[in-house]
Amino acid sequence: MTAYIGTPASRIDGRAKVTGEARYAADFNEQNLVYGAVVASTIPKGRIKHIDVSQALRVAGVLKVLTHQDRPQMAADDDAYKDDVAPEEGSPYRPLYDDKILFNGQPLALVLADDWETARFAATLVQVDYDAAPYVTDLQAQLSTAYVVPKPEKPRGDAAKAYAAAQVRHEAEYFIPTEYHNPMELFASTVHVDGAGKLTVYDKTQGVQNVQGYLSKIFAGSVQEFRVISPFVGGAFGAGLRPQYQVVLTVLGALALDRSVRLVLTRQQMYALGYRPATIERLALGANADGTLAAINHEAIAVTSQFEEFSRNDTGWSGLLYKSPNTKFVHKLVRLDVPTSSDMRAPGAATGVYALESAMDELAVALDIDPLELRLRCYSDRDQNENLPYTSKALHECYRQGADAFGWSQRNPKPRSMRDGADLVGWGMATGVWEALQMPVAARIVLTANGHAEVSCAASDIGTGTYTIVAQVAADKLGLPIENISVKLADSTLPQAPVEGGSWMAASASHAVASVADDIRDELLKLAKAVSGSPLAGAAGADVTLAGGRLVSRKDAGRAMSISDLMRHGGLDRMTKEKLNTFAQDHSHARNTHSAIYAEVKVDEQLGVIRVTRVVSAVAAGRILNPKTAGSQVMGSVVGGIGMALHEEAVYDHAFGRIMNANVAEYHMPVNADVHDIKVIFVDEPDDQVNPLGIKGVGEIGIVGVAAAIANAVYHATGKRVRDLPITLDKLKA
Ligand code: MOS
Repeated sequence: MTAYIGTPASRIDGRAKVTGEARYAADFNEQNLVYGAVVASTIPKGRIKHIDVSQALRVAGVLKVLTHQDRPQMAADDDAYKDDVAPEEGSPYRPLYDDKILFNGQPLALVLADDWETARFAATLVQVDYDAAPYVTDLQAQLSTAYVVPKPEKPRGDAAKAYAAAQVRHEAEYFIPTEYHNPMELFASTVHVDGAGKLTVYDKTQGVQNVQGYLSKIFAGSVQEFRVISPFVGGAFGAGLRPQYQVVLTVLGALALDRSVRLVLTRQQMYALGYRPATIERLALGANADGTLAAINHEAIAVTSQFEEFSRNDTGWSGLLYKSPNTKFVHKLVRLDVPTSSDMRAPGAATGVYALESAMDELAVALDIDPLELRLRCYSDRDQNENLPYTSKALHECYRQGADAFGWSQRNPKPRSMRDGADLVGWGMATGVWEALQMPVAARIVLTANGHAEVSCAASDIGTGTYTIVAQVAADKLGLPIENISVKLADSTLPQAPVEGGSWMAASASHAVASVADDIRDELLKLAKAVSGSPLAGAAGADVTLAGGRLVSRKDAGRAMSISDLMRHGGLDRMTKEKLNTFAQDHSHARNTHSAIYAEVKVDEQLGVIRVTRVVSAVAAGRILNPKTAGSQVMGSVVGGIGMALHEEAVYDHAFGRIMNANVAEYHMPVNADVHDIKVIFVDEPDDQVNPLGIKGVGEIGIVGVAAAIANAVYHATGKRVRDLPITLDKLKA
């Protein structure tokens, strides 16, 4: 085994992607496709008094305009709209359901036409009369309405008292604005009407079975069968975890016309989907003179909608990461008249750890200790919240290898002390932490007598490399060249998988494939034993392995039979096995990934322009299945961190309750010119407890801590601490 696991195998879907052969949700064509265009609300709250579609209907080529008053039947109960990852509390939004307006940009009508341009033009002719209602969209203005949501982290000691008595104190408020995922691919669905009440839905999603279950409930009265397919996803970052409204609208259109329909949202319309909630983070750290922590107080206040309660763990990371006898965590929500906030790129951790790691840097300054040294003095070998050991935690190694690669020891601690010509140079560092999650996933393997295997599973590949790692694991476990493995993913008719998120799919899918490959091996062994005079007659499953297209004794490599011979003896031309893999519930250890991030910025002293010239990210995430695809994920996440630190912010005009920069020109994101040298290091982290293959998963770990490392570097360069993201040059010059 392990010819491929751990090697930098290139993406098996790479050729399909670069040649355009890979098809995304809006690429599935059909004769006579109908195109949809959305009419969106221009007010954040109220009711539709009247909606006049007559002008739109007069446009040649317009087939129909759907509104809440004129649309196919939909379920009436809340439960039908609760997808697998919907917040527990609340009543999910129902697209085109009734006259209520819950947020700006809410779809109010769907124009269906022979072509997209016609649909889009006609959509501008739909007239809506509103009964507008008073609304709130400003977090800062609504702080008095913040309410506490219970979280599992337990307080320790008396954090208020310990803070008051601490020798060195640091207290500050940090702010992360509303951010949008902005995947390159627009949200889109193409619904094919297959006849006999069957619909095939090509959807941009991180979970085909989630969408399948959701649509099946909403349209239980009218559709017999939904099949949801999403072979390629052009980025999602959490935006595709919940089914988005365009898929419901596309199905409504298909049902209304009994024709196949495509709907692609505009970039602007995607700002009415979920987002990373604006969050206020308040940190109060109390330290002893020796640089150990006496108290951690962490309070987060985040945005949710009026109709659902979305929140993630922002504060718990503080108590998990660092040793402190006294901790207190409070998580609050403020309800605004906006869409429900959602998961985005390490939800909770990206925001909470930004604040924690900025505060730790400020504490290091107050203590006059090197920021890395402070982390080492507060280091904990146990999960401090649950008082549990880790299955593995190679964060020490991340700190050390990252520091060595970056050259941290050369840092002059004094702010504004390092220069490169006209630029101020700053070096900052931070810690990252995420969870090593694993979920039940099923896989199917069809092995043919000629030594080819097809591996299939409903899991998505959201660009992370799932196709490739599935092929690597299957190739190793089946003892076949990777070219002999074909992988089918993201079709709801395939074996069970949850949404691809939380960085859990690599561990989860790998074990599903490994487990079903063991069943294939056992079945081949049965065939071997049935052969008279078999060289493997006395062997048990664990005594044999598949290698080089043969079933081989582990003890004596001379005892072997080829797959083709075994299949021939059994009279088979193919063998199919399918299995659901679950993980034993083991709460004896904490399971986390860690990282150390070192960032260099250069700041133009006159203009305040900031460039992130170097980032070193050293990651401990158990066994790395594929350093190439995993490295790409961490690199992409670092770019996301640069965006958080310097660029990204949805700017609200509260006078209209609307986002002013709902486009990719004015919602800034890092482009190539903003991205310089990024070095990713995977430190060795053997782990035989987290799961049999020792896999923890990457992706989200790559962004956590990056914004703090950059903010800390900006402080080191300029002597100016900016706590509200993004750090734009106006804030530096102010
Ligand atoms: Mo991720 S934010 O779980 O797609």
